[in-house]
Amino acid sequence: MAPEFMREKHIEYIQSLDKKQDELEYWLSEHLRMSGVYWGLMALDLMGARDALPREDVIEYVKSCQHPNGGFGANPGHDPHLLYTLYAVQILFIQGALDTIDANLVAKFVTSLQDPETGTVRGDLAGDEVDTRFVYAAMQCLSILDKLDQFDVAKSVEYIDQCKNYDGGYGLVPGAESHAGQIFTCLGALSIANRLDLVDKDLLSWWLCERQVPSGGLNGRPEKLPDVCYSWWVLSSLAILGRLDWIDRQKLREFILDAQDDELGGIADRKGDMVDVYHTHFGIAGLSLLGFENLEAVNPVYCLPERLMGRLKR
Ligand code: FPP
Ligand code: ZN
Repeated sequence: MAPEFMREKHIEYIQSLDKKQDELEYWLSEHLRMSGVYWGLMALDLMGARDALPREDVIEYVKSCQHPNGGFGANPGHDPHLLYTLYAVQILFIQGALDTIDANLVAKFVTSLQDPETGTVRGDLAGDEVDTRFVYAAMQCLSILDKLDQFDVAKSVEYIDQCKNYDGGYGLVPGAESHAGQIFTCLGALSIANRLDLVDKDLLSWWLCERQVPSGGLNGRPEKLPDVCYSWWVLSSLAILGRLDWIDRQKLREFILDAQDDELGGIADRKGDMVDVYHTHFGIAGLSLLGFENLEAVNPVYCLPERLMGRLKR
């Protein structure tokens, strides 16, 4: 039998994260801090504990990570990057504080990362790394800011279509093997673009539901170990395709609950491993998609609370 969902312990675990500044682990995650705030805030929100982090401090912190070019870094003084810019915009959206930033400036940073010739999107201005994650990040960010009209959506949709594989899945770049994380980002981008018609829905749903292994957990690719975070990447993809019932929900629930730390709270990638805020968030978001534990509903495309989606001018 699976253990119970440890709501109170998870809330305490997330609240404790910012108080660990004397621990090595805290400083090792410095380059990820903005993501940690997004994951922590989302997990709390889905558990109905929205006020467990001080709102004003969160807003002030996010704004202290912004650069004059509009982009946000992972921490004050860190270089601006598209992923941290997305998380910053998501956090401000959840907090109802988007009006405290200049949306046009942020949009200018984001659109400057798109290559108008190929539709690819870079993660930052310094590098030339392209990845389907960045197409999704740019489109979600601009969609929240209601600035999608400043982006060549059709060109990036064409690019995503080039990343589609014979198995119905999508990879990091054209020709790269299908991976559940990239599939989520490609489906998310296509959904925001209103182009899910390009997806081979049956073939891809088969590939996705085959990610469930006998323990009940989901893996990200064939032959890989199951991991709680794929309860999000795989499940949200199935939710976008309207095929959530293609997996064994009860067994997946047990796999996620087994990965909880029953003393200190938090969820690990799998039973017995160290917990972290990333797997805590994606485990809880997975349970929300499955409809368990009385959690707030999560939107599978935006990974934001469903109740706030009405604020988007889509
Ligand atoms: C795999 O993670 C996941 C991906 C490659 C998708 C990541 C997507 C984003 C960062 C976009 C923003 C996401 C949201 C929800 C707003 P991994 O490389 O850690 O997988 P591994 O543990 O298998 O190596
Ligand atoms: Zn993981």
